[in-house]
Amino acid sequence: MKKQVIIDTDPGPDDGVAILTALGSPMIEVLGVCAVAGNVPLHHTLRNVRKVLELAERQDVRVFAGAEAPLARPLFTAEYVHGKTGFDGYDLPEPSMPVQSQHAADFIVEEVMSRPPRTITLCALGPLTNVASALERDRRLAERIEQIVWMGGASSEGGNVTPAAEFNCYVDPEAAARVLSSGVRVVMMPLDVTHKAHMTTDRVERFRTMGNKVGPIFAELLTYAKQFDWQKYGADRAPLHDPTTVVWLLQPGLFSGLHVNVEIETTSPLTTGMTVIDWWGVTSRQKNAYVVQDVDGDGFYNVIFESFRRLP
Ligand code: BDR
Ligand code: CA
Repeated sequence: MKKQVIIDTDPGPDDGVAILTALGSPMIEVLGVCAVAGNVPLHHTLRNVRKVLELAERQDVRVFAGAEAPLARPLFTAEYVHGKTGFDGYDLPEPSMPVQSQHAADFIVEEVMSRPPRTITLCALGPLTNVASALERDRRLAERIEQIVWMGGASSEGGNVTPAAEFNCYVDPEAAARVLSSGVRVVMMPLDVTHKAHMTTDRVERFRTMGNKVGPIFAELLTYAKQFDWQKYGADRAPLHDPTTVVWLLQPGLFSGLHVNVEIETTSPLTTGMTVIDWWGVTSRQKNAYVVQDVDGDGFYNVIFESFRRLP
């Protein structure tokens, strides 16, 4: 049976690759895609979700608009990485497919509660605002969701927005804290794992020479996004964060991690959004997440390429 998945996202090209990897897999049924503000404001992320679905010729997938701002603070965006639209680097056609009238958080609640327990996985590729709101709207949700696989957080790699915080966690730490304390099963993909599967020039070329429509377009988008990381990390090092979540669903054996306690710093001006991970069990706090530490990089990209090759 296919895995039933709801994707919550703030595209960004790496979000786009994650969505397309799910759409190209015969093992995944995408029940809906929810947009959240993050990399860029909501009107851009909502448009980018629809651009990706139309590129994949999947106008049948329902799209929902979620939060325009984090739960308790102003929105911090990342145009400095992805450009003004979030998809600078390739001019995809203006999308025409509709946005559903239901709020993303209500859709998540309704969809999860209307299906048998523990059948739906949430892939969260941005700040956790929509997901936290859904868990708040119906507390039974935490028991009903199969798992939330979230790209977020950082440990020994340090942060990518501040020395302590990863972007998705930094943007809405209150939402991350709510999700992690809700009792829901969380798999967390921190920078420590995404930095172990870099997008090299060779790997971008494999997108470009794929022989379909989607691969070369994403080669352009990823090349634009890569410029920022190249300057930051040195030549030929650029993480492709969000697809780790979808690849985890398809081939968890490529990854390794530990079941641990994770708490989110929400008050310190210096370390807001830090994921405080109790690797050594030095506290008696409850283990609330499986935190992934390592991935087989070649295996990871092979899963992505395999999915992409099935797309138009
Ligand atoms: C995360 O932040 C965003 O810029 C990416 O899309 C990814 O979700 C990495 O820190
Ligand atoms: Ca993202």
